Amino acid sequence: MSLYPPRRHLFGAALAGLLARQAAAQGERGPSGEGLAAIGRASGITFGTAVDSRKLGDAAYAAQVVAEAQLLVPEWEAKWAALQPRQGSFDFGPLGIIASLAQANGKQLRGHALVWHAAMPSWLAEGLAEGAAKARGLLAGHLDGVLPATRLAIRDWDVVNEAIANAEGNPFSARTPAQGDLRDTPWLRALGPGYVEEAFRAARERDRTLRLTYNDYGLEGDNPWAEEKRQRVLRLLRRMVGTQCPVDALGLQAHLLMDEPFRPEPFAAFLRSVRELGLAVLVTELDVREAQQLPAGLPARDAAVAERVRQVIGTALDAGCRTVLTWGLSDKDSWLAWDPDVMRKDGQMHRGLPLDEAGVRKPMWQALATAFGTRRG
Ligand code: G3I
Repeated sequence: MSLYPPRRHLFGAALAGLLARQAAAQGERGPSGEGLAAIGRASGITFGTAVDSRKLGDAAYAAQVVAEAQLLVPEWEAKWAALQPRQGSFDFGPLGIIASLAQANGKQLRGHALVWHAAMPSWLAEGLAEGAAKARGLLAGHLDGVLPATRLAIRDWDVVNEAIANAEGNPFSARTPAQGDLRDTPWLRALGPGYVEEAFRAARERDRTLRLTYNDYGLEGDNPWAEEKRQRVLRLLRRMVGTQCPVDALGLQAHLLMDEPFRPEPFAAFLRSVRELGLAVLVTELDVREAQQLPAGLPARDAAVAERVRQVIGTALDAGCRTVLTWGLSDKDSWLAWDPDVMRKDGQMHRGLPLDEAGVRKPMWQALATAFGTRRG
């Protein structure tokens, strides 16, 4: 089975081709001037964004993606629930639409995520509950179905997402049951604390040159809980590297919270420790949740968001990060606009992405462009 063109998804591939041509045309008439992809490329930085295949029928949405992004990450289409909705039955249709748009426009694709406790179909949760032997078989079956089919399109996967438990009492993150440093998930209960390494080894056995990334959130803030989570991630990465477990990179989701203090120093120290392990650092899901108490007026709000992005992304780039992805481009397409756990209760829309709801570039866009531009070469 292959991603292009999956026979039963020929329509999907044809639609993607049409969208791609439309987007390319729109792309020339999209946002004016160089996009973040071109600005980043001049400094050796890859900029990208999450893409929702169902929105690519909107020419303006597709044009923004083509104009601004070089690296695309499927927002939901590469997760287990989308790729293997029923055991043994794989659906590459939605992912194929994004892959075809990428192929038609010279973009790259990254995969998110092979093992996660969310976006799990019910049959998987039931299977994992049967114990380790069954869980190993399900993991192997998924990787056997997904990695060969996507190997020409995807060379970097979030192999495991969000395996580390949030520190107790963190007011900025949801409480997560834990077994030691690890979040108590169906994967942990099925395979034990070594499941993270198992997933990475299983991926490497199937593809010798895939970049294998561990991805997590809540690692940027200046407070004891974020520091504890950073130390937990470091313990996991040190254990993996120390046992020759194939891991290549840490993905920082970077869902930033304006109510959470930030100071570059502790974040920079953490990134140095990760880099000393020989790992790459990526920013994989950047967006900004605005403060409960908003500054007065859009200019002040946008300036505050831009300044936080300047500080965090500047720190990451100083530490050697060369891949930055936002979790969407326009505020109206963000999960921050609809997910009940994060959307604003005052009827306002979080202004946490580079483009406003009309697709106009905001100070956050400029903050990224400036951060990329100051690292020429
Ligand atoms: O409509 C699709 C359906 O056709 C498909 O078969 C199904 C497969 O899961 O998904 C259906 O819709 C929803 C999908 O978003 C598209 O909107 C899913 O029901 C819904 O669960 C899914 O939510 C996504 C969520 O992750 C869970 O996968 C959000 O779009 C996405 O923004 C969010 O992204 C997460 C990252 O993966 C991890 N970091 C946090 C980030 C925000 O929560």
